Amino acid sequence: MSETKFLLPESEIPTRWYNIASDMPHAPQPVLHPGTGEPVGPDDLAPLFPMALIMQEVSTDAEVDIPDEVLDIYRLWRPTPLYRAHRFEQALGTKSRIFYKYEGVSPPGSHKPNTAVAQAFYNKAEGRKRLSTETGAGQWGSALAFACKLVGLECKVYMVKVSYEQKPFRRSLMHVWGAEVVASPSDETEAGKKVLGEHPDSPGSLGIAISEAVEDAATRDDTAYSLGSVLNHVLLHQTVIGQEALKQMELAGAFPDVVIGCVGGGSNFAGLSFPFIREKIAGKEIDVLACEPAACPTLTRGPFAYDFGDTVGLTPLVPMHTLGHDFVPAPIHSGGLRYHGVAPLISQLVLDGLMRAEAYLQQEVFASAVEFAGAEGIVPAPESAHAIHGAIRVAREADEAGEEKTILFNLSGHGHFDMAAYDNFLAGKLEDVALDEGEIERALHAIEGLPTPA
Ligand SMILES: Cc1ncc(COP(=O)(O)O)c(C=O)c1O
Repeated sequence: MSETKFLLPESEIPTRWYNIASDMPHAPQPVLHPGTGEPVGPDDLAPLFPMALIMQEVSTDAEVDIPDEVLDIYRLWRPTPLYRAHRFEQALGTKSRIFYKYEGVSPPGSHKPNTAVAQAFYNKAEGRKRLSTETGAGQWGSALAFACKLVGLECKVYMVKVSYEQKPFRRSLMHVWGAEVVASPSDETEAGKKVLGEHPDSPGSLGIAISEAVEDAATRDDTAYSLGSVLNHVLLHQTVIGQEALKQMELAGAFPDVVIGCVGGGSNFAGLSFPFIREKIAGKEIDVLACEPAACPTLTRGPFAYDFGDTVGLTPLVPMHTLGHDFVPAPIHSGGLRYHGVAPLISQLVLDGLMRAEAYLQQEVFASAVEFAGAEGIVPAPESAHAIHGAIRVAREADEAGEEKTILFNLSGHGHFDMAAYDNFLAGKLEDVALDEGEIERALHAIEGLPTPA
């Protein structure tokens, strides 16, 4: 049997982030000002973000240097391990080889601090004192709380109400790192009060929590807004994952035929896949697969359109696959995948045929998660379990076709704070939620009248 873990020394932590915008056949369309319909400029974004991040957002440079202070913090958990899933392959009885990159070894337990630390660093460097953000499952909120603590910033987190109730210990983790956490929709912002006025029992959504966090930052001089996914600079920061994985696959003497990740806003998927898509654009043959929940099938069923990034309509208009900004996904346990849109970079790559997407029901995803835990030991985050399910499907299809594939997926986080969801699954209490066409049509009324992408 070959090695199980492929480890890199600290000296191999990437020193630059990779910017896929420099290689894409078609650049993503511009983000628009909702009032004027014109592309937004750096000055429009300055109230919300530090200039260094705004410049990264619009950069077409192939690579961006990672500041030493950020690298110093990355050293706490990076490089992350790449595993060959020998036991999982045996359990599945597949002829394919399965590898996974494990981001759950970071202190908050997911890939999210790769960008949280960078964002906290640039905000501190430009004099901000406090960051506001949203969180779905609590992974992003805890990553930003951790980053703010280490860098020396205050942190306010609007946590989607259903997760606030389902995941009290994610909240505790944020408190340990000094953040203030409220359930969203809250009565602390006008956006939250508006939603509560119309839907007092709203379970919340990422779109609503983003409205609250943006309003918080826009109404205070000392505060900037921080987003855990979707934006170009966030995806950029995550590319340390794929750059390490390329070297680790080389150590393993292998190269993937298929690269897989789950997609909420798209950051962990981009983090692993973009350095491989760079190889694909240069001529390598790779199948790149995004896995999303059937309850929130943004890439598989949402049109490509201009839409707001938040529910209330405070953000610029973003060109992306979307289900409509007032779409509130069913309260499935993959809180981090309950977002109505997906990153413009990923939306464009789908349009250009450089990747594809599938959507899965939560019971089959949990069954795959339990199967994986029974073989490899790691209990995955429900979000990451979508990628595991995708890997199983690809391996089974290859077996049926008499093929042997090399499969690489991103295990974006552990599920230690998701045990109530596992309890429900094991007790047979999880329900499948597929989205009916009528609800998609209803939600898409919200984007009627907005500009149409070229
Ligand atoms: C472990 C984990 N994986 C994936 C996601 C989805 O986000 P993204 O698509 O930005 O990676 C989240 C979001 O909270 C998460 O916590």
